[in-house]
Amino acid sequence: MKGIVLSGGSGTRLYPMTRAANKQLLPIYNKPMVYYPLSTLMLAGCRQILLVVNPQDEEAYRRLFGDGRQWGLEISYAVQPRPGGIAEVFLIGREFVGGDRVGLILGDNLFYGDSLPAVAERGARGPGAVIYAYWVSDPSAYGVIELDADERPVSIVEKPRQPHSNWAVTGLYFYDGDVCDVAAGLTRSARGELEITDINAHYMRVGRLTVEKLGRGYAWLDTGTPSSLLRAAQFVETVESRQGLQIGSPEEVAWRKGYIDNAGLERLIQPIRESEYGKYLQGLLARG
Ligand code: TTP
Repeated sequence: MKGIVLSGGSGTRLYPMTRAANKQLLPIYNKPMVYYPLSTLMLAGCRQILLVVNPQDEEAYRRLFGDGRQWGLEISYAVQPRPGGIAEVFLIGREFVGGDRVGLILGDNLFYGDSLPAVAERGARGPGAVIYAYWVSDPSAYGVIELDADERPVSIVEKPRQPHSNWAVTGLYFYDGDVCDVAAGLTRSARGELEITDINAHYMRVGRLTVEKLGRGYAWLDTGTPSSLLRAAQFVETVESRQGLQIGSPEEVAWRKGYIDNAGLERLIQPIRESEYGKYLQGLLARG
């Protein structure tokens, strides 16, 4: 399965933290932000990953991930010259998608919940487009979806002034191989962007959009403002220190999913033995 992590953007709301550093490389508690969405895609079964990054950040991302082989992945890179909208990823990534089914996750989105792997795997299988809705107190900052009594989508609106529901569209999406053609047919919005909401609205119009609700047993956090970044870090710290289990570790996901074996995990641990993270990974191996 193929998956795209969108890790560009300008991060203006986090200025000056993002003046010299890309948003998705900032830490959420003990890991770079981008580890969390990458792990989510891996849990969905995506092993061929395209990272879409700003031109000035490509080198840093290559340093962070390399070609992904260490985690049993195939990671490639594509540059978005300037932030032209989330849906632009399907013009930039057309060759990568190559008419196959594909997952997309925003590099600043953190998902957590017991059945998340199963839910995401279901989305990866399809059919059509599968997106996720999450109840939020202030939906006007998001794409907002309205569902009928049978949970079928009836409207989807980007950042509405008067939202029709509290169901926000999250930053995890799965599409069939037509998505690049759908993106190519879009026109830019008033803010000059290719809107992911327009892609989702297209799939809704042709009856090929499935919306899965993520209920209150899930956490969906985005990290675009200083306070939401802090809240996400506090959330991760709280859960991790209580359980002694980490959220968003690609090494752990790769090992648990069988993308790498014990020897592969040992190789990753070797250079970081003395760090907290290295000790955590050693603990996994010891417990078996
Ligand atoms: P946003 O949070 O909407 O935008 P941003 O990251 O540029 O931040 P700000 O609003 O503070 O300026 O982006 C959501 C996610 O999508 C984020 O992970 C960055 C990514 N993104 C891109 O990679 N390219 C784009 O063109 C856009 C719009 C977003």
